[in-house]
Amino acid sequence: MPQLGNSAASRDIAYLLHPYTNLKNHQSEGPVIITEGKGIYVRDDSGKEYIEGLAGLWCTALGYGNERLAETAAREMRKLSFAHAFNHKSHEPGIDLAERLLAIAPAPMSKVFFANSGSEANDTAVKFVWYYNNAIGRPEKKKIIAREKAYHGVTVAAASLTGLPHVHVDFDLPIANILHADCPHHYRFGNEGESEEAFGARMADNLEALILAEGPETVAAFIAEPVMGAGGVILPPAGYFEKVQAILRKYDVLFIADEVICGFGRTGRMFGCETYDLKPDMITTAKALSSAYLPIAAVMVSEPIYQAMVSESEKIGTFGHGFTSSGHPVCAAVALETLKIYEETDIVAHTRRVAPALQNGLGRLADHPMVGEVRGIGLIAAVELVHDKATKAPFDPPGQVGGYVARRCEAHGLIVRNLGDTIAFCPPLIITEPQIHDLLGRFELALADTLDWVRAEQLAAV
Ligand SMILES: Cc1ncc(COP(=O)(O)O)c(C=O)c1O
Repeated sequence: MPQLGNSAASRDIAYLLHPYTNLKNHQSEGPVIITEGKGIYVRDDSGKEYIEGLAGLWCTALGYGNERLAETAAREMRKLSFAHAFNHKSHEPGIDLAERLLAIAPAPMSKVFFANSGSEANDTAVKFVWYYNNAIGRPEKKKIIAREKAYHGVTVAAASLTGLPHVHVDFDLPIANILHADCPHHYRFGNEGESEEAFGARMADNLEALILAEGPETVAAFIAEPVMGAGGVILPPAGYFEKVQAILRKYDVLFIADEVICGFGRTGRMFGCETYDLKPDMITTAKALSSAYLPIAAVMVSEPIYQAMVSESEKIGTFGHGFTSSGHPVCAAVALETLKIYEETDIVAHTRRVAPALQNGLGRLADHPMVGEVRGIGLIAAVELVHDKATKAPFDPPGQVGGYVARRCEAHGLIVRNLGDTIAFCPPLIITEPQIHDLLGRFELALADTLDWVRAEQLAAV
């Protein structure tokens, strides 16, 4: 609850416009103010400690208070506090980071463009697709297909790609030429008795039908997260991406992999593309690229796309795209150091080693009367809560029970994110097995509190 007077909470209410917050409720509820962090833990202004079970916003892969990253930032800031890459200028941190990213890219990539957020990266990818098709003489091939429940960000084009209604409604989005294919969530959208493979094939067939209905000569690209994150931690059904990629090749549709959450170890391989054998033409990354110590994002493009951009920029006289802070040297230096730490500590192998503790621990909750589905891979997971386990009927209104769980988790010293009634887990990749058991214990306490409340309020068929 906000304090009266000149407290940080009351000044927050007075001055701060909060992203993704019910602004009306915020006026009475006020903020949780986080003041410091170390390892997987953060502390609020009352001194209470929490496990950061969502790695901030799916991003603080190396946890908090990493001295090497802090030192790197300070050193680079003293050496070169700003430089840009416009008009042939360059700087070593940007060059080194681009070289390193291309070396570890999960598919052959030719060049790296830097941005400052996942949204900017995806907006950039949309512009690159359009520029590319203009360059190679296909001005009518411009539509981009994303998926229902996808999350690609909030800038105008990225928000249009995002397949969540609250990101569109009353922002007058999506813009033209953005389409949404089905969300491939077997538990929610599979037919009675339909196997995961059959469902995946049906989703791919529907994508093909959409491309044919629109006219393949008008469809330029398909964008997908390897694992859908903010839409509910939705894993691709078996066989789905194989079939989807064959369809994209058949109709000459580019594939953009949004690795903003999956990139850099999250799924147990360096990239989600490796986990699911994806061969994209463009890759967007952000978040764990710098372990979120500083904002930086990267768009990688294939050689054919780069070559088309070269000829188009020659024709026009310049390549008319770029942000003031594209590849900011301090951010680039920190990202490069982050990649070095991933390599030296073999963070991907660590993730694979500890992931079963999280996945099996949550999996044991599958029999819980409110749990509809437990799903996940590597160190990303979700528990979907339902009103009626037998029929999979969701709670009404959606998000009320999920919000209660998240608040009870906080009471027990665990920060998670409720995506409606789906509780998402995405702890820092440095988490150890004992810490995972601690996280699970806190979640189980919150779930037990919630079950008591749901029964008392008669909110579920339990
Ligand atoms: C898969 C994915 N793409 C893009 C974004 C947008 O990134 P940002 O919030 O940095 O703009 C997000 C953010 O959560 C994301 O999860």
